Amino acid sequence: MGAGIAQVAAASGHDVLLNDRAPEYIERGVSVITKNLNRSIEKGKLDAAGRDATLARIHPHPKLEALDVDMAIEAATEHLETKLELFRSLDAATPERAILASNTSSISITLLGGATKRAERVIGMHFMNPVPVMTLVEIIRGIATSQETYDATQTLATHMGKTPVEVRDFPGFVSNRVLMPMINEAVYALYEGVGSVEAIDTVMKLGMNHPMGPLTLADFIGLDTCLAIMNVLHDGFSDSKYRPCPLLKQYVAAGWLGRKSGRGFYTYS
Ligand code: CAA
Repeated sequence: MGAGIAQVAAASGHDVLLNDRAPEYIERGVSVITKNLNRSIEKGKLDAAGRDATLARIHPHPKLEALDVDMAIEAATEHLETKLELFRSLDAATPERAILASNTSSISITLLGGATKRAERVIGMHFMNPVPVMTLVEIIRGIATSQETYDATQTLATHMGKTPVEVRDFPGFVSNRVLMPMINEAVYALYEGVGSVEAIDTVMKLGMNHPMGPLTLADFIGLDTCLAIMNVLHDGFSDSKYRPCPLLKQYVAAGWLGRKSGRGFYTYS
C-alpha cells in the first residue's frame, strides 16, 4: 500500500521520500508505480509528461534518518512491535513540526502516539487497497491528537483526491470492524462446509453486488493481515464474536497468505 500512497501523493503535487526495509523493496515500489502510471497512459488518462513529473517527485530514501518532511505516512505490516519501533525512529528522524500518520488497519493510534514525544501530532490515515482507485481515507484521532493535526491531515487527504471520514480510535475503526467479521464469517462458512469457495463468493457478488466475493477480497488483502486484524478485534473487545476462524489460522500457518504468496483460497500464477 505504501507504493499506492506514494503514487497518489506525488500525483497530487507532493514531493515524496520513499522508504522501505531494503533498497530492493523501494525499487519494487517504484516499479509498481511506474506500471500503474503506464497503464493510465495506455487508457489515455495521463500523458508521458504527467508520468515523468509524478515519478520525478518520488525520491528513494533507504535510511530512516534526516527526514526533512512535514508528514510521514507509515504503511508497514500490521504488527504492533514493528509499528512501535518505526514510530520511535520517525520521532527521532523528523523535525518537530512533522505529523506522523499511520496507515494501520486496526492498531490503536493512541498506542502509537504513546511511543513518541509528540502524541498530539500522531494520527491514523487509513487508505484502502488499491490506493489509486479507492477514494476513502479513514482519519483516526488518537486520544491526544490535536485539532491542528486533524485539520492538516484532512486537508492533505482531500488534496490527494480522497474523501476523508473521521472515526474514533477503537479496534478496527469502522472499516475493519464491519468488513473483517464478514470475511471471517465467510471463512467459517467454508470451514463448516456450507458452500465452496466459489459458491460463497458468488452469493456475495451476485446477491449483494459486492465487487469481489469475501474470499477473493481476503486473498487480495492478505490472509495474515486479515488474521492480525481479527486478533486486534478479539483482544481489543474481549468478545468471542471476533474469534478468528481456525481455518484462517491454519492457512496463515501454512504460508497460504493469498495473492502475495501465490496461494490463499484461490491459487495465483
Ligand atoms: N492498482 C491500481 N489500479 C488498479 C488496481 C491496482 N491494484 N486494480 C485495478 N485497478 C484499476 C484499474 O486499472 C481500473 O482503472 P480504470 O477505471 O481507470 O480503468 C479500475 O481499477 C477498475 O479495475 P478493473 O476494471 O480491472 O476491475 P474491477 O472493475 O473488477 O475493479 C477493483 C477492481 C477496484 C479492485 C474492485 O474489484 C473492487 O473495488 N474490489 C474491492 C476492493 C476493496 O474492498 N478494497 C478495500 C479492501 S480493505 C483495505 O484495503 C483496508 C484494510 O484495512 C484491510
